[in-house]
Amino acid sequence: MYDRVGGTPFFDELTKRFYEGVAADPVLAPLYPSDPDEFEQARVNLLWFLVQYWGGPATYSEERGHPKLRLRHAPFVIGAAERDAWLAHMTEAVRAAGLSPLDEAQMLTYFQASAAHMVNAAE
Ligand code: HEM
Repeated sequence: MYDRVGGTPFFDELTKRFYEGVAADPVLAPLYPSDPDEFEQARVNLLWFLVQYWGGPATYSEERGHPKLRLRHAPFVIGAAERDAWLAHMTEAVRAAGLSPLDEAQMLTYFQASAAHMVNAAE
């Protein structure tokens, strides 16, 4: 997938678009750092994680160690509203990228499953 979509620049664009949505979202914005440098660092962490997950260089693990994503999300209350908002912005970002139908479907299926996996709070 990493090679098919054009490598790191694809994920750079994807995370930029996604984080624009996050910054403007009343449900999600309060969870993320308000400091612009820290907010950008959060985007860069997601960028390198996705690069690694989809078959690119392992920069994420070299810099951050094992992803342990559920554990890293434990400080944040993530219920259905947060999951749905996160997924809506990511779905919009993926759709805007103009992937082939098969790649788009594979990516959206992954984000649906991983967003559900990150939920840690009951209604
Ligand atoms: C379900 C809703 C989700 C919410 C509300 C959420 C929220 C957050 C927040 C608040 C942070 C911390 C930002 C910071 O302070 O640096 C974060 C980090 C991160 N998230 Fe999520 N997230 C969600 C789902 C996901 C999913 C599905 C993935 C992966 C596919 C993901 C990947 C990451 C990564 C890689 C980091 C950085 C971890 C690190 O190295 O510190 N998140 N997320």
